[in-house]
Amino acid sequence: MNNTVSQKPFLRALKGENLKSPPLWLMRQAGRYLPEYREIRGNVSGFLELCYTPELAVEVTLQPIRRYGFDAAILFSDILVVPDALGQAVRFEEGEGPKLNPVRSVADLDILSLDRLHEHLAPVYETVRRLSVELPDETALIGFAGAPWTVATYMVEGKGSRDFANARGWGLQDPEGFSKLIDLVTEATAAYLCRQVEAGAEVLQIFDSWAGVLSENEFEKWAIEPTAKIVSTVKARYPDIPVIGFPRGAGILYKRYVAETGVDAVSLDSTMPLDWAAENLQDKVALQGNLDPLLLLGGGEPMDREIRRILDRLGKGPFIFNLGHGIIKETPPENVARLVDVVRGG
Ligand code: CP3
Repeated sequence: MNNTVSQKPFLRALKGENLKSPPLWLMRQAGRYLPEYREIRGNVSGFLELCYTPELAVEVTLQPIRRYGFDAAILFSDILVVPDALGQAVRFEEGEGPKLNPVRSVADLDILSLDRLHEHLAPVYETVRRLSVELPDETALIGFAGAPWTVATYMVEGKGSRDFANARGWGLQDPEGFSKLIDLVTEATAAYLCRQVEAGAEVLQIFDSWAGVLSENEFEKWAIEPTAKIVSTVKARYPDIPVIGFPRGAGILYKRYVAETGVDAVSLDSTMPLDWAAENLQDKVALQGNLDPLLLLGGGEPMDREIRRILDRLGKGPFIFNLGHGIIKETPPENVARLVDVVRGG
């Protein structure tokens, strides 16, 4: 590894170094809270077009880096490009979440295929390639994917859901059938992440946003096992690539997730007790998190106080400052500027 790369603060923290001022980036740091994002978004017909147009995806990835100087840039894309590339077309309708024609049985899986995966995702790899050239020397580049469980919830429900009754129900009633879907998404995701590394991603994050609805047995089968497979596939080819896992809402199951998946770091959601995390996780992996996005939305003294509490509790071990979930779109950009100041010692 060359010197410039190993000196990036974000990569140093992920290797277990304890930095005086923690590196900082925010989930969903590119997006609708930024006027410069809304301007570009207004000129394309759909959100996925933005993800598949390297010139524009590079630009919106760089916007928050220019404005705030974060320590890492995250590739601008979406977790749902994977089902889209497998042949289950994804639509984003204005003002609504994603829509897919649901797959709910083994027979439905016939529409899915790995054959055109990389061809379909080539524009995303091109975006990563361009970013790896254009980013400032001290800024790390994060590639990402959804974890198989979270991606599968959208594939089975056909949209966002509250209770995930179809996805969980399929897994509980017919685990063998449901694991065919999970295995396919796992294979696609591992291959997708390897290509992102080849294109220049220096870190990978796996978003399991809906891990928190799973019981312990389900968590083991649908969150831990597929993630462990992805991590081992990636590490077999790229042993030095750090992987951050985000099993949002997993509570004390974060401990098994850390012990059994092989990730180098975990992103903590805002409900995680900080002392518990410091005690049970931070001697094994780097921690990332976990300011409540609602505190960033509101700003002011309540935000400052919580930032200082997080720095105090987690800053003693390897740590990366982040939110507990993505930025809320109504967040005033000046609150983000304030957050950056406070984290960096203001
Ligand atoms: O800045 C970044 O973090 C990088 C880009 C990024 C997006 N989505 C852009 C996006 C990342 C890392 C994601 C991850 C993602 N996408 C997750 C996991 C993280 C999480 O938030 O839990 C999930 C579950 C999705 C699926 C998804 N994408 C939904 C449910 C929606 C609709 C809800 C919404 O916020 O609009 C999206 C759309 C989406 N993904 C937008 C952006 C900027 C907004 C679309 C727009 O601009 O019209």
